[in-house]
Amino acid sequence: MPTAAIPFTDLVRSRHSVRKFLPDPVPPAEIRGVLEDAQTAPSNCNTQPWTVHVVSGAARDGLSKELLQADEEGRVSSDFSFDYADFGEGTYLDRAHHHAATLYGARGISRSDRAARKAAARENLDFYGAPHVAFLFMPAFGDGVRAAGDIGMYAQNFLLSLTARGLGGIPQTALGFYADTVREFLDVPKDLKLLFGISFGTADQTSPVNNFRIGRTALEQSVVLHDTPGVFNGGDGVRHDG
Ligand SMILES: Cc1cc2nc3c(=O)[nH]c(=O)nc-3n(C[C@H](O)[C@H](O)[C@H](O)COP(=O)(O)O)c2cc1C
Repeated sequence: MPTAAIPFTDLVRSRHSVRKFLPDPVPPAEIRGVLEDAQTAPSNCNTQPWTVHVVSGAARDGLSKELLQADEEGRVSSDFSFDYADFGEGTYLDRAHHHAATLYGARGISRSDRAARKAAARENLDFYGAPHVAFLFMPAFGDGVRAAGDIGMYAQNFLLSLTARGLGGIPQTALGFYADTVREFLDVPKDLKLLFGISFGTADQTSPVNNFRIGRTALEQSVVLHDTPGVFNGGDGVRHDG
C-alpha cells in the first residue's frame, strides 16, 4: 500500500531491512521513481560516483544461480574487506553479536546449528526471494572511502523511496563477496568496484524475519553535544535495545 503521504519522521523510522519478499514484480514506473529519488543524493563535488545495475526476471534468476554456485565453490572475490575481527573487542562486536542473535532468534535457529545458519546466509544470494536487485558499483578513487560514503547516501535515498511506496529493500554486503561473479554476469568492467547490492520488492508481512525491529543505541552513546543544551532531555522515540 503506497504510504507517500506519511510524515518524514514516521517514514524514516518505519524503514527496516526486509529478508523475505513476495515474488510479485514492482511496476516499471515505481522502479523509475525509486531510481529518480535515489539520484538526488548528495555526493562529494557532485561526482555522483554510483553506477547501478538493476536485475530482474530471467537475469535475476540466472545471477542467483551463479552466486550460489560461487559460494558453494568458495570463489569469494570481494573488492573490499569485511572481517568481524576488525570490530575489535567491545562495543561494535557486541552490537554485531546482538544483531546475529536477534536475526537467528527470529528464524528459530540455535547458535550451535551451523547448517541452518549457513542456509540462512545463503538466502542472501537468492536476494531473499526479491524479484529485483540493484547492484551499486563505484570507481576506485583513492582509498575509496569518500565514494563509498556517497554510495551510502544514494542507498538510503533508495531505501526510503521504497518505504514511501509501500515497498521494501535490504542493503547486502553479502552480494559484494562475489564481485567477480556479478561483474562477469552483468558485463561490468573490472575498474568498477562492487560495494553492495539492494534486493527490493514487496515484503512478505507474514514472515517472522520481517517482524522484529533491531533497535538502536541511546543517542547519548553516539552523539557528543557542545554548547547545545536541552537536546538529551526529551524522548527520541527510537527503541533502544542494542
Ligand atoms: C551497507 C549494509 C550492508 C548490509 N549487508 C547485509 C547483508 O549482507 N545481509 C543482511 O541480511 N543484512 C545486511 N544489512 C542489513 C543490516 O543488518 C541492517 O541494516 C541492520 O541490522 C539494522 O536493521 P534495519 O535495517 O532493519 O534497521 C546491511 C546493511 C547495510 C547498511
